[in-house]
Amino acid sequence: MSLEKMTTSKIIEKKKNGEKIVTITSYDYSFAKIVDESNIDLILVGDSLSRVILGNENTLAVTMDEMIHHTKAVTRGVSNALVVGDMPFLSYKIDIKEAVKNAGRFIQEGGAEAIKVEGGTEICPTIKAIIDADIEVMGHIGLTPQKIYRFGGHLVQGRNTDAAKRLILDAINLQEAGCFSMVLEGIPWQIAKVITNQVDIPTIGIGAGSHCDGQIIVIHDMLGIFTDFKPKFVKYFANLGQSMRDALAKYKEEVENSIYPDLDHSYEYPLNDLNEIESWIDSVDIQEESLKLKKK
Ligand code: KIV
Repeated sequence: MSLEKMTTSKIIEKKKNGEKIVTITSYDYSFAKIVDESNIDLILVGDSLSRVILGNENTLAVTMDEMIHHTKAVTRGVSNALVVGDMPFLSYKIDIKEAVKNAGRFIQEGGAEAIKVEGGTEICPTIKAIIDADIEVMGHIGLTPQKIYRFGGHLVQGRNTDAAKRLILDAINLQEAGCFSMVLEGIPWQIAKVITNQVDIPTIGIGAGSHCDGQIIVIHDMLGIFTDFKPKFVKYFANLGQSMRDALAKYKEEVENSIYPDLDHSYEYPLNDLNEIESWIDSVDIQEESLKLKKK
């Protein structure tokens, strides 16, 4: 299969053509390579790595350096998908200059092609400054996990008229600020549908129903690897967690019973030379020989 390099303009084009946009997270080289080979349009190096890779309770704990470290690993494995780096908590809300600098690190050091920020109208001046520095930006509104303490938990957003209107207006302002797409997370599907119809840039849903222009999901969730908790929208497309447990049990059994490694998985030594080794062992004092080697 010959794949083609994805760009932000092609992502926008897909919406115009009524084609769904398929996106997913990745955090390392091996996963990203498989995702890329699967013809996925966009890979987000999400700050969700804080939970599923680093084992933190939420996304707030991950640092810029950790995000860059994982972005580098992902971009080494990707040739076709568009790679987007997720700006972590506090990396873009203290001041605009610092936000631009941190966004630039994802491109310059991480090899990403765009960045994502959480927030609505209030974050538009920062988005504009990042775009002025020639960096492509993906927006993210709704249940933005960096705000969980303000929301009081992982709660679905936009569930009343005022909140839904605010989300719709935020979406329009993100488009106006220059975002090439936006994530809609944890909002009722009807509101996601209204937003999708109101903006020309693609909406990428997660817990936002099927009317979005595309979908995103955390790869460790959909593969059944991360099962600490399962939001309503998560569907297990595989149970790799169980496959891993089965494989590890088999590995343990085979090692304990000297079944693995067999000769097919071992390196061979030439038979003649082996005879020489055996006669050498018989003819020398091995302790003395090793002492001689230390003294050399
Ligand atoms: O961090 C992340 O993985 C995300 C997506 C789920 C949108 O922000």
